[in-house]
Amino acid sequence: MSLFRTKPIDPNASHGLKRCLTAWDLTLLGIGCIIGTGIFVLTGVAAAQHAGPAIMLSFVISGLACGFAALCYAELSSAIGGSGSAYGYAYAGIGEFIAWIIGWMLILEYSVATATVSIGWSGYLNKILEGFFHIQLPVEFTSAPGEVPGAVANVPAMVIVMTLASLLCWGVKESARFNGVMVMVKLATILAFIAIAGPHVDPDNWVPFIPERTVDANGVGHFGFLGVTTAAALIFFAYIGFDAVSTAGEEAVNPQRDLPIGILASLAICTVLYIIVSGILTGVVPYAQIDIKAPVAAAMGSLGISWAQGVIATGAIFGITTVMLVLYYGLTRVVLAMSRDGLLPAGMATVHPKTQTPVKLILGSGVLIALISGFFPIGKVAELVNLGTLGAFFLVCASVIALRKTRPDMARPFKVPMVPLIPVLGMGFCGWLMVSLPLATWTAFAIWMAVGLVVYFLYSRRHSKLAGQ
Ligand code: ALA
Repeated sequence: MSLFRTKPIDPNASHGLKRCLTAWDLTLLGIGCIIGTGIFVLTGVAAAQHAGPAIMLSFVISGLACGFAALCYAELSSAIGGSGSAYGYAYAGIGEFIAWIIGWMLILEYSVATATVSIGWSGYLNKILEGFFHIQLPVEFTSAPGEVPGAVANVPAMVIVMTLASLLCWGVKESARFNGVMVMVKLATILAFIAIAGPHVDPDNWVPFIPERTVDANGVGHFGFLGVTTAAALIFFAYIGFDAVSTAGEEAVNPQRDLPIGILASLAICTVLYIIVSGILTGVVPYAQIDIKAPVAAAMGSLGISWAQGVIATGAIFGITTVMLVLYYGLTRVVLAMSRDGLLPAGMATVHPKTQTPVKLILGSGVLIALISGFFPIGKVAELVNLGTLGAFFLVCASVIALRKTRPDMARPFKVPMVPLIPVLGMGFCGWLMVSLPLATWTAFAIWMAVGLVVYFLYSRRHSKLAGQ
């Protein structure tokens, strides 16, 4: 029965953190963490190789999966609060074992997502160096092995990860104001793209909407409706981040009301922007010619507006940097929450007396993340992140149904409408996207989860603060 032991619920606990974030700040926090490599980079691979102009449909499918999950996040965050996000909700409502599984998936999400975003960052850095300074970095040192002949490692991606690691060690705090400025830069970049490229859309480029299905020499399928779902499973990455709003539960002025607003509003705004941007992208460049490393900026170049290419690339690189910082910070937050509960060794979370940051944890995870950044192609790592995150979203939807049964009297300032229909739809959409991901991704995921189970049964279960209670 110890697998189902739970922690008490206290939605107003703040552990001494200052309550200063309003609904507006939380919405900006969400947008700050959502818009990044997904729209600026992955849209290229997804449209050019999997969905063609139907990438717009892929964004709708993924957006629906996220919308259902976001409603469930909204209910749990308003009722349970705290900073542990889905891990904390499961620990309070369902039990330690499911909480562990979700926490382990969140560690995968945040660490590998940081690596994925750094690879996208590297692509845009190259575009800026090329566009503004006519410098061409050697392709062998800006690509992962296997991506191009002779590739050694993606060095800029590794360097940015270690730079951020040092910044976090120095104690860079999430600052609502800094984030607000960055969000404005990002939104301005996206709106500039819409305004400048929009008038150049040629509807002929949207035909055929779903290109015919083909299978390449490696047996990999492209296009057709299956391609649309493959693309949806890939660009799901673009939506990741709205869930991070829920980690601000202890810093929100009025968490019960404002967390649901922040989660749902940031997701809704980004969904609309994504559908418009992907429509314009495929409308101005024939899908087969879309640049797969920096598609949004390159689209400007292909229209002959090279100054705009530089401006978009610069806006993108700033925007992408903050996403990385928040994801990396999110990783340390989840690990800290788990070690505070005794499920991971307390030593991992030791705070350095001078900097007051968990230096060992930051640097150790930085080296691992940098190795992923340097040696794996972006599509593969993004798919692994998506699988872990979709798994966590699936369990969050299931938790809403379970808690309505086990804790019917818990106060729920925000309630998901039409339960169990909405959570079941969420589970259905997330499950559908999960099975659309390739077998190799599932194998890597299975290995990660197997390691997690071993750690749980050999260590966490016995060291849990709830053990013996
Ligand atoms: N949604 C974030 C991005 O696209 C993780 O970069």
